[in-house]
Amino acid sequence: MPHIIACLLAVLAGLVAQPAPASAAEEVVIYSSRHYGQEAAFEAFTRATGIEIRMLNGEAGQLFERLKAEGSKTPADVLLTVDAGNLWNAARAGLLAPVRSPELERNIPAHLRDPEHRWVGLTLRARTIVYNPKRVAPAELSTYEALGDPKWKGRLCLRPSGNIYNQSMLATFIRRHGEPRTEAIVRGWMANRPTLINGDTKIIEAIEAGQCDVGIVNSYYLARMLKKDPATPVALFWANQQTTGTHVNVSGAGVTAHAKHRANAIRLLEFLSGLDAQQMFADTSLEFPANPRAEPSAVVKAWGPFKQDELNVAAAGEFQAAATRLADRAGYK
Ligand SMILES: [Fe+2]
Repeated sequence: MPHIIACLLAVLAGLVAQPAPASAAEEVVIYSSRHYGQEAAFEAFTRATGIEIRMLNGEAGQLFERLKAEGSKTPADVLLTVDAGNLWNAARAGLLAPVRSPELERNIPAHLRDPEHRWVGLTLRARTIVYNPKRVAPAELSTYEALGDPKWKGRLCLRPSGNIYNQSMLATFIRRHGEPRTEAIVRGWMANRPTLINGDTKIIEAIEAGQCDVGIVNSYYLARMLKKDPATPVALFWANQQTTGTHVNVSGAGVTAHAKHRANAIRLLEFLSGLDAQQMFADTSLEFPANPRAEPSAVVKAWGPFKQDELNVAAAGEFQAAATRLADRAGYK
């Protein structure tokens, strides 16, 4: 975390020190909390349009507070962030303005976009089950719910409930199943005395080390490890394929309510939703492209196609507070 703050301060200092650009119409300013490969797609945008990009990087919560504090004076045209819950929060706080774009609507499936058009998903992350293939047969796995089966007692690793990835997952479960059933799922997990580990990569490492046999993580973390070492002894299982589909979330972007370069900002989002940029995102972040016409990278493609839960990802925001309360009630720390 401190390096992120240092990085943010460095970028802020850079913004202040920079001379004003020759033409204000030829730029777009992004506040970004995405932390995986994005540079190639932005460079391609500048090459294609001549519009310069100024990027301020920071942690999602910091950028949200900054946008709020700056109000109409903000230099930000675009907020780019991870998790639909964060996008939903920004929209609810009035920080994003609706954009109607036939191109965005053509490129990005409806369940990955804000129903009120204030943000759009650009990459898709699947949060699913990973396991140690030496100790678990895939036939033993089926659903998130089934990780509450007593056979997983002492064998399950989870992120703590305060992590937004799990909050968003539980929020989606609430939309999908209602609170009583979601609470029963969480109580099932808790009855198995899971080891709580605050990091998806650390969960995969714990499985590798034999500390637990199954866990729930975002697929790109395993993809990164497999890309580095194809012999990584942890396998992925697509959860809930016979039922509701695997939980997915997005990282995405919206045009700010006080954008000084709104047309450029819209052009950027349209560009980022297009085939070329989507291919670059997929290859560098190892997430799934949100645009289904782009291909996942080879290491991701090797997992085969899967059925995703097609509930609108806005549920991650709408039920986030309910998910937090539910986790508390169920004893999920
Ligand atoms: Fe992540």
